[in-house]
Amino acid sequence: MRTVEFAGWPHRVSALGFGCASLGSRVSRAAGTAAVERALAAGISWFDVAPSYGDGEAEAILGEALGGAKVAILTKVGLQASSRNGFTKAVRSIARPVVAAVPGLRSLIKPMRTGAVARVRLSAETIRTSIARSLERLKVERVAVLALHDPSAEDVQSDEVRRALDDVKRQGLAARIGIAGAFDAFVTANSTNAGIDVAQFAAADGPEQIPPLNARGIFTIAHSVFQGGMTLRDCMAANPAGVVLASSFKPDHLRANVAAASEPI
Ligand SMILES: NC(=O)c1ccc[n+]([C@@H]2O[C@H](COP(=O)([O-])OP(=O)(O)OC[C@H]3O[C@@H](n4cnc5c(N)ncnc54)[C@H](OP(=O)(O)O)[C@@H]3O)[C@@H](O)[C@H]2O)c1
Repeated sequence: MRTVEFAGWPHRVSALGFGCASLGSRVSRAAGTAAVERALAAGISWFDVAPSYGDGEAEAILGEALGGAKVAILTKVGLQASSRNGFTKAVRSIARPVVAAVPGLRSLIKPMRTGAVARVRLSAETIRTSIARSLERLKVERVAVLALHDPSAEDVQSDEVRRALDDVKRQGLAARIGIAGAFDAFVTANSTNAGIDVAQFAAADGPEQIPPLNARGIFTIAHSVFQGGMTLRDCMAANPAGVVLASSFKPDHLRANVAAASEPI
């Protein structure tokens, strides 16, 4: 597996990251745990998660499945699983085995995923509480990155938010601070906030943005490669010094993605 340097972290990280958005929702706890274990065995050492992922279950499942493995985790603050999720979760866990057997039913349960997240009003207090809970669920003392999750222009320009993120970094709870959202949000944040030096955005959002960002010491992460109909190889070539995320729960997908990430660029 090709690895890249991540300044502020004690070891190099895999150029392929494992995306955990479906861990605990589309993918059950048992299947997700097995997939994380396969990813670790294949050499993946970058995991992308958020408090809202997997109907709010992804961080805890990931923390358990990693079993103390020395990996880099990016988690986020800004979105959480909606409290309306209880009923959806119950229906989904009953429906999951049926849908697996009859793939045509997938379109029927898909609408249950929409509206499953709620926005967190960002303040010093909500940022502090969110990272503390994330670390507890992930069973780690610090993460590689704490990123603002799909922030608004107001969030990224707020002095209170900036100071709270500085505190997270100063206390050693996250090695670096990032924006995981639209590329424009990163540009706005960076015009006022020099402390944000990790940018995560959709692969289709402009690969030409990556070299100038890297030249300024900004670490770049691309996601939603397959949703965007691209190839992992092309995305890796466009982001040679950063990480490309892929949802790789199916063993065949993991194999193909690891193979693509093991080729020299
Ligand atoms: N705001 C943000 O920061 C943000 C936004 C979106 C996504 N993300 C992160 O990026 C991760 C990935 O994004 P995503 O889930 O939108 O999209 P993705 O990686 O493009 O995956 C979409 C689908 O493609 C499948 N797939 C994986 N490898 C494949 C291959 N080699 N050939 C064909 N299909 C393949 C996956 O299946 P299986 O998983 O079933 O194997 C999944 O169902 C998320 O899990 C999340 O961690 C972050």
